[in-house]
Amino acid sequence: MGWVHRRRDHGGLIFIDLRDHTGVTQIVFNPDIDTASHTDAHTLRSEYVLEIMGMVMIRPEETENPTISTGAIEVFVNQLDILNTSKTPPFLLEDDPGADEPVRMKYRYIDLRRAPMQRALRLRHESLHMIRDYFHAQGMIEVETPILTKSTPEGARDYLVPSRTHPGEFFALPQSPQLFKQLLMISGMDRYYQVARCFRDEDLRMDRQPEFTQIDIECAFVDRDDMFTLIEPIITKLVKEFRTLDLPQPFPRMSYQEAMDSYGSDKPDLRYGMVLRDVSHIVAESGFKVFKDAVAKDRVVKGLAISGMATASRGETDGLTTSAQKLGAKGLAWIKVTDTGFESPILKFLGETVAQELAKALEAAVGDLMIFVADRYDVAVSVLGSLRVDVAEQRNVIPKDTVRPLWVTDFPLVEKGPGDHRYTAIHHPFTAPLDEDLDTLDSDPTQAKAKAYDLVINGFEIGGGSIRIHKHDVQQKMLTLLGISEDEAQAKFGFLLGALEYGAPPHGGIAIGFDRLVMLLTEASSIRDVVAFPKTQSATCPLTDAPSPVSPAQLLEVHLKTLDRTK
Ligand code: AMO
Ligand code: AMP
Repeated sequence: MGWVHRRRDHGGLIFIDLRDHTGVTQIVFNPDIDTASHTDAHTLRSEYVLEIMGMVMIRPEETENPTISTGAIEVFVNQLDILNTSKTPPFLLEDDPGADEPVRMKYRYIDLRRAPMQRALRLRHESLHMIRDYFHAQGMIEVETPILTKSTPEGARDYLVPSRTHPGEFFALPQSPQLFKQLLMISGMDRYYQVARCFRDEDLRMDRQPEFTQIDIECAFVDRDDMFTLIEPIITKLVKEFRTLDLPQPFPRMSYQEAMDSYGSDKPDLRYGMVLRDVSHIVAESGFKVFKDAVAKDRVVKGLAISGMATASRGETDGLTTSAQKLGAKGLAWIKVTDTGFESPILKFLGETVAQELAKALEAAVGDLMIFVADRYDVAVSVLGSLRVDVAEQRNVIPKDTVRPLWVTDFPLVEKGPGDHRYTAIHHPFTAPLDEDLDTLDSDPTQAKAKAYDLVINGFEIGGGSIRIHKHDVQQKMLTLLGISEDEAQAKFGFLLGALEYGAPPHGGIAIGFDRLVMLLTEASSIRDVVAFPKTQSATCPLTDAPSPVSPAQLLEVHLKTLDRTK
């Protein structure tokens, strides 16, 4: 049984590729074998649903198809039952459907019939199965937490659900089960995991959906290293199983500071080089005023070498400069390293000796292009960090079949936006500071480091977690630091603050973004290709047409009135 994938009518013989979830098999209608089915076969069209009986035959050698697993055989039909007909599908059911994504999403049930989508969803299932087996074997229990709940502070906008029974009041859909999993540790559950649906109303990207799945984890009496030891084996196993690649054991670690210094990003892609270097000390006394002045004003000059780009045209170097400016830099300086020497508009100011020192610092070889940004530290590293990623993609230098995991650790606890008076938590307000930084909370909070860690793979943040604050007074202090008044804290997280006063054990956890993990395992470039029924970039569902208006009666029931937009 299956669907008509392709049909070839050779006058006498009719060939059909019959498809089901395992792939296609060629079936043959021969008038000499069964006249009735051969006659009916003339009416078959794409996506008709068939039941056939027939004889499996070895194909003549010259007609074998080695590209498919059933290519050595064909089935000669002696009985045909047409189980259903189909309208002409809106796109091809091939690896490349030749249709825009909104059309594929509107007809998702057809899109999912395509082999790559079947593979992705089956792999998603298989990997989830392995994950559940693994955590079960680790003595962890899966506990479901509420979907109708209170706002959780993961930093995105909430999806709200109006209450019918309490006029003017709302539930929030969870941005993560963060507070419940901490309560479960306080409840003595010891080791919890959950395949948890999370909801965040935020700007969407290739790796972000408004609703997504976390493998959510929390354990009592653990430290950071216990968490690494728990997570590394299952990630290693999945990558081995589905990408047939071995990962380094243990996964490398890098502090947040080092990640920013060397990669200009808190999620460095380690699959390629182009490491950022601080060259301020080399250019501080040079004759190039832009660099010299920058260093004098406590700014930095950072640079990196792009392999093989010394042949860049004027247009290409101008393009890099424009990109740097769009990213917030004032300018971009470059030096080509060629076999006849350095070439750069700033060479006459810098001099050969300084250029040589720069090449040495950036480990630039003949054929490379060195680029530099002089600016505030945060601007210089973020601009070069973004250029690094863009250039690697454009120049195709990212090796295929390479998976490079990394733990990024020691994040700052809080940050202060420019012109901002309030501190905000970098991870979330329940993350513990390093023990040695507890006092720093009073003197200079931005210097305090958090017991937070991210799992970064190939430049994607695959997971993030932390050891939590388990003492009531420390939590209270943290909330005060974040400018959350006692009343507000009580209203928002009173239940957690209360629980911390009843013998809360030390605890910590992590959440793995499961959709992103499956993207990595399937090598998908969009998160939508690993979700059965995803939302568009603008958070809509073309299949069901959600979100959509509701009747006035339904609105009235939940005590809501829509604003008249014409006024
Ligand atoms: P965090 O907010 O870092 O941590 O989320 C954990 C992981 O979830 C994934 N993720 C997403 N995936 C798809 N679409 C999204 N919109 C999206 N947002 C996040 C990422 C991310 O690393 N409660 C904490 C975890 C903890 O502290 O234990 C939390 O949710 O892969
Ligand atoms: P200018 O002095 O503005 O003519 O710039 C001289 C050269 O230095 C040009 O190639 C600029 O792109 C470059 N440049 C200017 N500002 C910066 C900066 N902040 N960082 C790096 N290069 C810069």
